[in-house]
Amino acid sequence: MEEQNKRLVPEFKANKLEIDAQRHWDLFYKRNETRFFKDRHWTTREFQELLSEQQCSRSGQRRTLFEVGCGVGNLVFPLLEEQIKEQKSDEHGFYFYACDFSPRAVDFVQANALYDSKHITAFQCDITTQQVHQHITGESLDVCTMIFVLSAIHPDKFTDVVQNLWKLLKPGGLVLFRDYGLYDMAQLRFKPGHKIAENLYMRQDGTRSYYFEEQQLAQLFTSSGFEVLSNSYVHRRTLNLKEGIDVPRIFLQGKFRKRTAVH
Ligand SMILES: C[S@@+](CC[C@H](N)C(=O)[O-])C[C@H]1O[C@@H](n2cnc3c(N)ncnc32)[C@H](O)[C@@H]1O
Repeated sequence: MEEQNKRLVPEFKANKLEIDAQRHWDLFYKRNETRFFKDRHWTTREFQELLSEQQCSRSGQRRTLFEVGCGVGNLVFPLLEEQIKEQKSDEHGFYFYACDFSPRAVDFVQANALYDSKHITAFQCDITTQQVHQHITGESLDVCTMIFVLSAIHPDKFTDVVQNLWKLLKPGGLVLFRDYGLYDMAQLRFKPGHKIAENLYMRQDGTRSYYFEEQQLAQLFTSSGFEVLSNSYVHRRTLNLKEGIDVPRIFLQGKFRKRTAVH
């Protein structure tokens, strides 16, 4: 990692990456369409709150889940499919909201065969701004999921994002988080010329990625009115036997609950 400091991304270029962030993600989806990310079938194993049998809220109402930075829907559609299979979608299943910065990604979500406004609403928005409040009522959500999304956002804006989620969640509502962990293989492999700031890098295609440290993530959420239910590194391997790839990966996974007001 010492090597990476030999040549940093120049300031004017780093500023331009921020200005062009939406364009870079939109071009990413123009190039990759729906082929890049795999369906995230591990989510119900890692986060029990997403299981359909857990989905009836205490008041008996349909629960609501907001997937931030949904891409082409690799998290929401497997969950919705399971609900439909179990015929739980109308009463006990989640109602899904999904947003992405990239208009193309949202188009792909809306074009999915499972897309039906009875079960899901997808919309374009920059989650670092106030736009989301035009789409979702305050204090209405049970669960927010952020899966490899905050890493795509500049660290100066992390607090704005977490505060937006705080406003949208019901008291006691949860944020389920998974993202790149500090010293993940993908971080170590950046060559000089890619580092923008501490733990923040530019990829070849102009998208950025941040690598999270446990304490820092806990601090981010606790300072915005959440309590930490869990927060730890998970170690996985990326395996591709055909290409002879077997590399260790480090992710940071957390569960944060919106504090209920203290009177
Ligand atoms: C690495 S992808 C992950 C996509 C998806 N969550 C998944 O796991 O398949 C990051 C996503 O975050 C979106 N994104 C980046 N900045 C955003 C922002 N400011 N507001 C909303 N979405 C954003 C990108 O367009 C992209 O779809």
